[in-house]
This record gives sequence, structure tokens and C-alpha cells, in this order.
Amino acid sequence: MTDIGASRQGRNESSDSAFTRLNLLGESLIFRKTLRIIERIADVDATVLIQGETGTGKELAARALHYLSPRREFPFIPVNCGALPDNLLESELFGHERGAFTDAKKASRGLVSQAEGGTLLLDEVEAMTPRAQVVLLRFLQDHTYRPVGGRQISSGDLRIIASSNVDLEEMVRRGEFRRDLLFRFGILNVTMPPLRERGRDVALLAECFLDRFATQYERPQKRLHPSSIAWLMSHDWPGNIRELENLMLREFLLADGEVIQIAAPQRNAADLAFDRIDVDETFKSAKARAIALFEKNYLRHLLTETCGNVSQAARISRKDRSTLNKLVKKHGLASDRFRSAGRRP
Ligand SMILES: Nc1ncnc2c1ncn2[C@@H]1O[C@H](COP(=O)(O)OP(=O)(O)OP(=O)(O)O)[C@@H](O)[C@H]1O
Ligand SMILES: [Mg+2]
Repeated sequence: MTDIGASRQGRNESSDSAFTRLNLLGESLIFRKTLRIIERIADVDATVLIQGETGTGKELAARALHYLSPRREFPFIPVNCGALPDNLLESELFGHERGAFTDAKKASRGLVSQAEGGTLLLDEVEAMTPRAQVVLLRFLQDHTYRPVGGRQISSGDLRIIASSNVDLEEMVRRGEFRRDLLFRFGILNVTMPPLRERGRDVALLAECFLDRFATQYERPQKRLHPSSIAWLMSHDWPGNIRELENLMLREFLLADGEVIQIAAPQRNAADLAFDRIDVDETFKSAKARAIALFEKNYLRHLLTETCGNVSQAARISRKDRSTLNKLVKKHGLASDRFRSAGRRP
């Protein structure tokens, strides 16, 4: 976190400045509502589930919950649930004693013990295996655990925050996520709004990022041309704030002059492809590149609109489902990434 010391004093200052110090920027009504919820539940020690599309700031929100809570002096430990291997699950979470298994040359503390007194963020809980879900459920019941190979039962004093990119309710309906675990996680809920619903926050964030890069890279300030702001406001932002941040960094580093004009080249993928034709590039290769760009953009839009529903996307695009599926795979666009990304519920 950028400025933990300042956030410790945050409760005595206006909460808005505490959020600014915690890097949660935004002034739209919908975002301010979310901040008020975070502020209200930071002090409560119950488990929180943070949901939202990719790049909407779930991890930042979890950090804000921690640094605004009485646990702020203790560690904040994020753990990516998708990266927890089933065979080392208990050892990763609860630690192990020396000699507990072949590779256990010395005793090791698990993530739960590392987070003692503080907050454990279970990130991407949707990626948890069925076995991991059972192990977590058991731990969440009374916060007790036993290190692998150990005899003693320990009790963890920590707050759990879970975060998810996809609608867990929907996963429960499909039988892919345990309902009892969802109940345990979702005592308190925070939903991070998608960037496209945050109105002028897009421009505000874009300008804040440009200021930040100027300081970070010790280069002159750059500003956005009005046409760039119009384009930013009209874009759908499937990758949300991360996508905006990356675009701004690219523009900041590559744009000539102090005014950034992104409207024209970004408007359409084919234009972009043609902008970059090398003098010695063949017609065939330039055309293939333009088509690939068009396909990827088209599919991204389609999957966002249909919340990743390939059958519906096939109907709209008048392509058959398996052809569409092949295209989705070819462009590395996992359709489940879009499940909670669309505008329709
Ligand atoms: N309100 C905000 N103000 C400024 N920057 C933000 C805000 N929200 C998110 N960011 C920035 O956007 C990027 C993505 O945020 P974060 O990692 O918290 O999102 P996420 O929802 O956890 O994404 P993912 O689902 O992909 O893990 C980070 O660089 C973060 O600093
Ligand atoms: Mg995250």
C-alpha cells in the first residue's frame, strides 16, 4: 500500500482523504456509495465478500477495509486461491511441522498464521477446487486449524475477505460452488461498479494516472485532448481501471508532444492495423492482421454484451456455436471472464 502511515490517521480526517491516500479515486455517485459501504463495514469484524468485474479495484477495496480497520497494524496477506495446489493446500494455509512430508525439511508457517491479527484476502475464490472449498469451510466455522504433521490445534485471530470476478450465486446454481461456503463468505457484501457505469470518473482517473506517471517517470506533464476524453467516456472498458491505467501509460510513454489524442486511432481496430503497416509488409499479411484485430474486438464486445453466453453470442452474430467457440479460443478470450462483465444481469 502506498501510504499506510497516513491511513492509520485516516479516521481522524475526512474519510474522502483517507480513501484518496488509499488510492481509491472517484467521485461518481455509484462509486461514492461503494466507498460509504466500505467505510461503514471496515470496523466490523465479519467476513466480507467483494465482487466485481476484473480490474474494478477489488484488491484495493480489500486493502482499504484492512487499513481502515482496527487490524491495520497487523499484516494484510493476499492469497490467490487459483494458485493453491490441492496437494499442498493445508500446508500452504495452515503451515507444516518439520518432516511432515518428504520435502518438509523445516517447519513452515502457513498463510493463516502469517496473517495473525490482520486480514487474509482470499482472492479469486471462484477458482477454488472442490477440496479447497471444503477445507476453507471447515476453517471458517471456528477459525481453528492444525498445521500438517502437528498435534496442536491453533486458533487464528484474523479477518477474512473473499473476492471474486464472477457471480458466485450463479456458480452455486450451476453446482460449481458450495452454497454453504458462499453463505460464510457473504455475511457482508461489497460490489465494485464497472468503470463504464462510473460516468466522468473515467476522465478523472485518466488524468490522475497521467499526473502520477509524470512524477514516476520524471517527464513533463501530458494532458488529454477533448476528443480523447470523449472517446474514453464512450469506451466499454471490459478490463475496467486496469485497462484504463495501461492505456494511459502507453499513451503517456509513446505520445509525441504534451497533448494526448487517442480518439482517431483507437476508434476502430482496422484503422489501427492500417496505421501500423510496415513499408515491406505484404498485402496478405496486413490484411490478416487487420482481420485478427477486428475479430478480437468484435468478440470482446459480443461476449461483454452477452455476459459470456456463447449460445446467445452465436445467435446474435449468426455464426454457429462451435465456430464461435473456436474463434474465442483462438483469441484467448475465455468466455467465463465475461460472465459478470455485461450490462445485462
Ligand atoms: N478507484 C481507483 N482509483 C485509482 N486506481 C484504481 C482504483 N481502483 C483500481 N485501481 C487500480 O486499478 C488496477 C486494478 O485494481 P485491482 O487489482 O484492485 O482490481 P481487481 O478488481 O482486484 O482486479 P482483478 O479482478 O483482475 O484481480 C490497480 O492498478 C489499481 O491500483
Ligand atoms: Mg484482484
